[in-house]
Amino acid sequence: MDGSTDGVLARLREMQAGDLPVHGGRTLAYVYDSGLPDVDRIGREAVAAYAGSNGLDPTSFPSLLAMENDLVGFTCDLLDAPASAVGSVTSGGTESVLLAVQTARDGAPSVVSPSMVVPSTVHAAFHKAGHYFGVAVRSVPVSDDFRADVAAMAGAVDDSTVLVVGSAPSYAHGVVDDIPALAALAAARGIRCHVDACIGGWVLPFAARLGRPVPPWSFAVEGVTSISVDTHKYGYAPKGTSVLVHRTSELRRPQFFASADWPGYTMLNATMQSTKSGGPLAGAWAVVQHLGTSGYLALASSVFEAVDRIVDGVPAGLSVVVPPDSTLVALACDPSLDAFTVCDEMRVRGWYVQPQMSYAGAPPTIHLSVSAATLASVEELLADLASSVAAARAAGPVVVDPEVTAFIDALDPAALSDEDFDGLLAASGLLADPSAGLALPDRMAPVNAMLDVASPALREALLIAFLDRLSRPVRSAAG
Ligand SMILES: Cc1ncc(COP(=O)(O)O)c(C=O)c1O
Repeated sequence: MDGSTDGVLARLREMQAGDLPVHGGRTLAYVYDSGLPDVDRIGREAVAAYAGSNGLDPTSFPSLLAMENDLVGFTCDLLDAPASAVGSVTSGGTESVLLAVQTARDGAPSVVSPSMVVPSTVHAAFHKAGHYFGVAVRSVPVSDDFRADVAAMAGAVDDSTVLVVGSAPSYAHGVVDDIPALAALAAARGIRCHVDACIGGWVLPFAARLGRPVPPWSFAVEGVTSISVDTHKYGYAPKGTSVLVHRTSELRRPQFFASADWPGYTMLNATMQSTKSGGPLAGAWAVVQHLGTSGYLALASSVFEAVDRIVDGVPAGLSVVVPPDSTLVALACDPSLDAFTVCDEMRVRGWYVQPQMSYAGAPPTIHLSVSAATLASVEELLADLASSVAAARAAGPVVVDPEVTAFIDALDPAALSDEDFDGLLAASGLLADPSAGLALPDRMAPVNAMLDVASPALREALLIAFLDRLSRPVRSAAG
């Protein structure tokens, strides 16, 4: 193995060539592409310059503290935050959500068995937070328009509730919940209200400035106590940052952790990580400095033009599930059309669009997180969607073998064993050669169709078993 600098870097590039592209606007989930080479360069160089700096101690790395305060300040302006607002830069949306939930729990110490009331469309990060922090998740089915059913959520609130949550917008459907009603509901009982604007918070303010109708969602709404917004999404910054803003420093206080109860340095952390690379923060700061308000306004103009053209030009066979409030588009398929095959066909044509499983009686859909860079090839996107629909129709729907379905039906998600999982892999033909180990298939439709017949709980168990099989160390032969 060539361990020279050039050799290792060449291998990195070679390995990366097999990943989804992060530039070009053709990857419509996971990555957000401004399409501006300078934005990438500045972000990349800032990350590299600060990769070894440690955000653990802001007094030793004061430049990191200065960048964090700048970035939170810029964010506060976007969120209509009052002068009392404070915030922290976290590692991503999930960490911001985890901290919002942990802070709400610890801000109500008298509640013995805390719960949070969320719309069923809330991001899975809230389920993770509930799991980590022992906060029961009361997930309330949404209304027909995919927005929170406020009356039903009101019915789910009781003395154990420490947090009410709304999304701006929800990931799966791209619509903004009725934040004023949710915030009023929470405020009337003295409960915190978190707005998860991880994916919308950096783009909705610019949508409003462009004159688009934007439902109220920010701190301008009385009763909103915290908001999460991700710079590594529509801030077009390198991966690894999100901002969690609280209306007051009192509300943020339980988020902080200190421990002097050991012989080393006193641990003092604002977020979940302790040692944390300064790279992502520097990358986000640099990109925001470079783009500024005018840069983001221009990017918002591009992304919304792309969204409008996609919504208007969706080919026959597909339809928009609900008119989007922001930059996320969910597409439904005609009953005769297989959504998973359409996604695979798009992959063949150089696009990544994300399959969403059937849920709560609704069929599978296709998710598009549209980026500013997508605008340049939006006509190609629509043409490729049309030809993918034609190809998927010609192929016919993926049919899960009735024996596999019966096998799945008999599995108990709470007790899925390695043998069960091996049995399913064998029955489905996914592990044709057991000695070769588990490999990622080229076409995901057969796997997705199989998962789709499983209950959400079984999907979780199967995917955990799958991830476990994928994550196996590569040992040197000499070892
Ligand atoms: C609304 C919403 N909340 C939270 C998250 C979680 O963010 P992350 O993947 O950065 O942890 C996402 C991610 O897409 C999101 O869309």
